[in-house]
Amino acid sequence: MRLLSVSTALVCLALFSGVNAEEKMSMSDADKAMYAEMLENNPADMDVVEGKELFNALTSQAVYGQMLGVKEKDLPSYIAGFPRFVKPAGKVVTLSQTLQMAAALGAKSVPKLESKEMLQMTAYLKSLANDQTTNIDVKANKQMQEMMKLGQEVFEERRGGRGLSCNSCHSPDVIGQRLRMQPLPDLGSKVNASAGTWPAYRMTKSETTLLDKRFQQCMDNALLAKIPLGSREMVALEVYITNKTKGNPSQIPGLKR
Ligand code: HEC
Repeated sequence: MRLLSVSTALVCLALFSGVNAEEKMSMSDADKAMYAEMLENNPADMDVVEGKELFNALTSQAVYGQMLGVKEKDLPSYIAGFPRFVKPAGKVVTLSQTLQMAAALGAKSVPKLESKEMLQMTAYLKSLANDQTTNIDVKANKQMQEMMKLGQEVFEERRGGRGLSCNSCHSPDVIGQRLRMQPLPDLGSKVNASAGTWPAYRMTKSETTLLDKRFQQCMDNALLAKIPLGSREMVALEVYITNKTKGNPSQIPGLKR
């Protein structure tokens, strides 16, 4: 367990409101009722439907599988293992990046990682792996091992004016403490699992979001310069955090507070 530096600890003291051990729930009763209702009828389902149309206009499962050297019937379990090393890319990539590859291969215009169509296509593609167990393999090859190591470094690196890292708010010693009324979530627990739950609809933002964009929202909140989507650092962070809850069943789209 890493000790927080004095300056970080001071910042954290200033940030965290009083900890109330008996009051662990992050949602009010009204919020919980809304959450239950939305589970039945997740607004992000529409994104999956639209993503399917966009995907079929871009490529097909057969061509997409061929590009990756994967039989069509094996796509679900393959998709459940991202980010992963992809031979034609020559590096570890996210699922969204494979969609950019498919677009380039078909001589179509390449969707931006930030775009809505990319979010929707990624949500659809990931949903093909629903009911699979997420199976990222950080030991699969040298490239994955390197990305896992880099991801941990990025997670622990203190940056920004307040000298905060992801770890400042998500390390075991601070989990459960409150930041502006919000308990700090344990990214390794089933409740806050990242693996198999993103893209997810965020109730507090009323929008569907990708996992790497969720990281950027935390960077924004903590005044850390945003690491660009698709950069080596960002993909590494996704490897590191996804691996924390590897084995979680894939249920796309997710629903988050
Ligand atoms: C200043 C404190 C703070 C920092 C720094 C911080 N986070 Fe967070 N993070 C939070 C809080 C609070 C939540 C829960 C917010 C909510 O539920 O609305 C959260 C939620 C998350 C979630 C969502 C988990 C889920 O339920 O799926 C992820 C993923 C995450 N953070 C990753 C990161 C990463 C990566 C970094 C570093 C770039 C980071 N966080 C830095 C406070 C922080």
